[in-house]
Amino acid sequence: MSTPATDIHKKPSAAKRYLIVLAIGLILGAIASVFAMRAINERKDHFPDSVMTVMAWHMGKLKGNIETNRCNATDALPHLQTLRRMGDDVDFAFTDIASDERFGKHSANFRAALDAALANPPLSCESLGKTLGEVGGQCKACHDDFKG
Ligand code: HEC
Repeated sequence: MSTPATDIHKKPSAAKRYLIVLAIGLILGAIASVFAMRAINERKDHFPDSVMTVMAWHMGKLKGNIETNRCNATDALPHLQTLRRMGDDVDFAFTDIASDERFGKHSANFRAALDAALANPPLSCESLGKTLGEVGGQCKACHDDFKG
């Protein structure tokens, strides 16, 4: 029995069936990975990144103060005070590595740099620049060791 090419009842060839199964597999795989990624993202703890993001925002504000020549103590102190308080949160944000001696040392150095800045507040753009360098140096020191 010969079947014309247009016969819709014609059975798909093995290759075609393979492609159809492959396509279905790919689609199901894509859907499954969207669900998996969503689940992973929901489980992710956003606290550590949030602490860092807010600290970076305050550092950016201080840098902006220097660039716009707003270097009174009243411009800088609120940011330095918030950074100092958030320095306490750094250990809570990274409880898994906070017990590492080097990490504890970095976060203590970071707080010490801010304590020094608060004890002797920068009163000029020049001294604020120096303070930023000291605080920023502690951000970098910890990142060099612990930020992947
Ligand atoms: C004692 C350690 C430590 C100190 C101090 C520290 N960081 Fe971090 N920071 C980390 C670690 C660890 C990560 C990596 C976080 C991650 O990947 O989840 C990080 C990540 C970041 C990120 C990326 C956040 C993200 O969304 O992935 C920014 C921005 C950041 N830090 C800014 C700062 C700034 C600005 C300072 C100083 C004012 C600072 N950090 C001080 C440990 C530190």
